[in-house]
Amino acid sequence: MGRIKVAVAGASGKMGQASVSAIRSDTDLQLVGAVARRWAGRDLGEVMAGQPWGINCRADVQECLDADRPDVLVDFTHPEVGAQHALWALAKGARPVVGTTGLKKEDLAAIEEACEKSGLGAAVIANFSLGASLLARFAMEAARYFPEIEIIEMHHQDKVDAPSGTALHLAQELAARIHTVNRPASIERLPGVRGGAVNGIRIHSLRLPGVMARHTVVLGGPGQTIEITHDSTDRNAFMPGLIIAIKKVVALNRVVYDLAELLDDGP
Ligand SMILES: NC(=O)c1ccc[n+]([C@@H]2O[C@H](COP(=O)([O-])OP(=O)(O)OC[C@H]3O[C@@H](n4cnc5c(N)ncnc54)[C@H](OP(=O)(O)O)[C@@H]3O)[C@@H](O)[C@H]2O)c1
Repeated sequence: MGRIKVAVAGASGKMGQASVSAIRSDTDLQLVGAVARRWAGRDLGEVMAGQPWGINCRADVQECLDADRPDVLVDFTHPEVGAQHALWALAKGARPVVGTTGLKKEDLAAIEEACEKSGLGAAVIANFSLGASLLARFAMEAARYFPEIEIIEMHHQDKVDAPSGTALHLAQELAARIHTVNRPASIERLPGVRGGAVNGIRIHSLRLPGVMARHTVVLGGPGQTIEITHDSTDRNAFMPGLIIAIKKVVALNRVVYDLAELLDDGP
């Protein structure tokens, strides 16, 4: 099989630009398309590196899917459009790798249905960093002994969704572990608090300048507490996981939500 052809939606954004560079540096991948409304009609290389790469920035995802024919569409855009982009990709035979967070339950259900119908796979992963995957693994182990748990997440002030997708995913997994009765996960909004709760696990969301992304799981027991923290200080933290997801999604025929599922058999 030749190189996997990849397009990036949200290429002008912070994660989009980091993804473009990471994809271009991987010899198994070929960047074939980019969606960036603010750079529409311009060559992506001219904008990002001052020299042409032969990639014409598109104003919308459908135009990119038709013209550039990617095998995989990476999406780092906005919660209001991320799911629609994935559905358009699946309709055109491209596999979506969705990094955009804040997608609604019904969005995820629609992506699952589209995957089932098309026989194609998708990766919808709230956090591509290996460290966040390990945080979840360690917290799951600690939760066997300390079932009283709260989560604190801190992000930069421009993050549009709260709680973070990572915190929600963590809370759902931890709740499933500590509740003997597996209640369906739902987010409860707590009055006066930015954050929420999932099946009784509270999430505190802080939005501050100077922070990129930090998640802390605090577990309490009589006379002791455990805190497990993961910090992302640079967007490069997300790139190895993203590259693994792009390579693995082409062989999937279902939706994967957890990077750990893609790591188990090695990168
Ligand atoms: N999964 C992970 O590991 C991970 C890690 C970090 C961040 N994230 C998530 O990734 C997403 C992007 O984050 P970011 O920091 O890169 O944001 P950002 O810098 O604001 O970039 C988002 C880009 O999306 C495009 N966009 C915004 N609204 C759009 C719309 N309605 N339709 C089409 N394109 C639109 C914009 O480009 P144009 O205006 O040029 O089109 C913008 O440059 C967020 O949901 C964030 O939570 C995920």
